[in-house]
Amino acid sequence: MPDFMEIIKGRRSIRKYQEREITEEQLNKVLDAIRWSPSWANTQCWEVIVIKDPVVKQKIQEAMPEGNPSRKSIVEAPVVISLCAKLQSSGYKKGQATTKFGDWFMFDIGIASQSLCLTAHHLNLGTVIVGLFDHDKAKEALKVPEGYEVVTLIPLGYPSKESEAPPRREISEFVHYDSF
Ligand SMILES: Cc1cc2nc3c(=O)[nH]c(=O)nc-3n(C[C@H](O)[C@H](O)[C@H](O)COP(=O)(O)O)c2cc1C
Repeated sequence: MPDFMEIIKGRRSIRKYQEREITEEQLNKVLDAIRWSPSWANTQCWEVIVIKDPVVKQKIQEAMPEGNPSRKSIVEAPVVISLCAKLQSSGYKKGQATTKFGDWFMFDIGIASQSLCLTAHHLNLGTVIVGLFDHDKAKEALKVPEGYEVVTLIPLGYPSKESEAPPRREISEFVHYDSF
């Protein structure tokens, strides 16, 4: 079993997928990783749409700009997971935002996305978090009701091509001690 840091460092955004299907067991494991993610006051604001239908994949692809490098991945991957969020839940108490940042749904969905991607990588599956698309168009295509938003689209499947890790800032470039 790989060391935990190997999983963290070895996960890459995968934009090319094999035609090979994934199993229901693999799918359930990545969904379980979302389930066990931390969230604001355990609000668990996520709603998840598992997309396998090529017609639906095509519709959400139409919500993506031509320049998005993951445009093909959406139709190529055997499964696309759409992470949606219930609004005014995370970061809210009695209907009121509790911090200056208001709704924390992006934060909670971000954590859940990373749980999903790391678990998929652990299972030798690839993912890419896709955020650049017309969210209203995707919302309509996925029949997401009012009060909820589509946040990300995450293709999931066996990688056919892995790219180099893009460079990272050095720890010394972003860590501050005692004050900024
Ligand atoms: C919030 C978020 C949105 C992203 N949106 C896109 C996207 O729309 N298209 C894409 O190809 N990659 C997208 N990515 C993937 C990033 O480009 C990628 O994580 C980054 O370049 C680092 O590469 P790595 O994931 O292989 O380490 C997104 C990543 C995050 C976290």
